[in-house]
Amino acid sequence: MGRGRRRTPRCAASRPLRQLSLPRRSGGGSREAAIVDAARSAARRAGRRAPGPAVHGGDPPGIGGGRMEAVAPARSRWVDLPPAIQRAIEARTGPVRGAWDAPDVGGALAVVVDTWTETSVLVRGARFGDQQGRDALRAEAAVAALELEHVPALRWRAAVGTWDLLATSHVSGRPADLSPGSVDVTLLGDMLRKARGSTVRGMLPEYADRWSAWATRPELERLRGSHLLHTCMCPGHVLVSHDRATVVDWGRAARGPAWVDAAYALVQLGEAGHPPDAALRWVRTIPVWSTALPGALAAWGAVHSRYWAEQPSLAGRVEIAQELLGGSHD
Ligand SMILES: Nc1ncnc2c1ncn2[C@@H]1O[C@H](COP(=O)(O)OP(=O)(O)OP(=O)(O)O)[C@@H](O)[C@H]1O
Ligand SMILES: [Mg+2]
Repeated sequence: MGRGRRRTPRCAASRPLRQLSLPRRSGGGSREAAIVDAARSAARRAGRRAPGPAVHGGDPPGIGGGRMEAVAPARSRWVDLPPAIQRAIEARTGPVRGAWDAPDVGGALAVVVDTWTETSVLVRGARFGDQQGRDALRAEAAVAALELEHVPALRWRAAVGTWDLLATSHVSGRPADLSPGSVDVTLLGDMLRKARGSTVRGMLPEYADRWSAWATRPELERLRGSHLLHTCMCPGHVLVSHDRATVVDWGRAARGPAWVDAAYALVQLGEAGHPPDAALRWVRTIPVWSTALPGALAAWGAVHSRYWAEQPSLAGRVEIAQELLGGSHD
């Protein structure tokens, strides 16, 4: 049980951290072609731009749980927890067979509790003073309460001592392999088709708001909607077991247009090496993809390309978006 960190690549697609200069609008043409234009112009701008404004101190409003560049909260291991907290967890979870730290899971406290009676439970915790951590728990709990098949089930939420605790089911599965030919790509598509964009209204932060520093006002309007979004379909968040995919880490869930998670999945396929034509054929089998209003995908591509182009670890995505969407002209 160590304090070790990180294994799968951290997901930063939905976690803008830098303020960029505002864009020019992309041109006309097909929606996908407009994304290509946006990606190209972002790449051009990236090549000539002076260093951008200062890095935000943390995530902008509306993003819960960002811990990548933000200062990580001091970590509490199961063995470090006061016995009263351990007992409180046990009281809610049932007799405990074993408990261990979940070093891959971010936050101030993350332990997997194995019980005699049911499947393992993942308990996450944030201190009362950790607003960002608590916002992430709130989002995670709100989504878990929807009882969706592809979301870890809600077990309980409790305030214990100075801790805000959330327990969900611990999914036994492996990170998805999204490379060409992998059956996991089919399972990801099945999951997105079944999810069908649940409506969430006011219970989650608005997706568009997190992009306000990177988007024009009309672009932001195109990123508004009322559907449940995960906002990071990276392989580490898509756990596969048997014949189904479950999506974990809903701490940055938001409400927005129904097609957004399919767009993130499309980029992941591009990163995993799918030829553009194949990736686009795949995404078009997901019904919510076609619900994007004219200009919406272009706005999404423009906003993300600006952000990606400025982040050293993500700049490659601009190229990927170009290649991916460059193959889309039917
Ligand atoms: N309910 C769960 N069941 C099983 N494994 C989980 C669950 N939640 C998270 N994990 C595992 O822990 C990893 C990290 O969890 P999570 O994404 O919540 O942390 P994080 O701090 O947001 O990390 P990252 O920045 O990489 O997304 C996931 O990629 C997944 O492998
Ligand atoms: Mg995560």
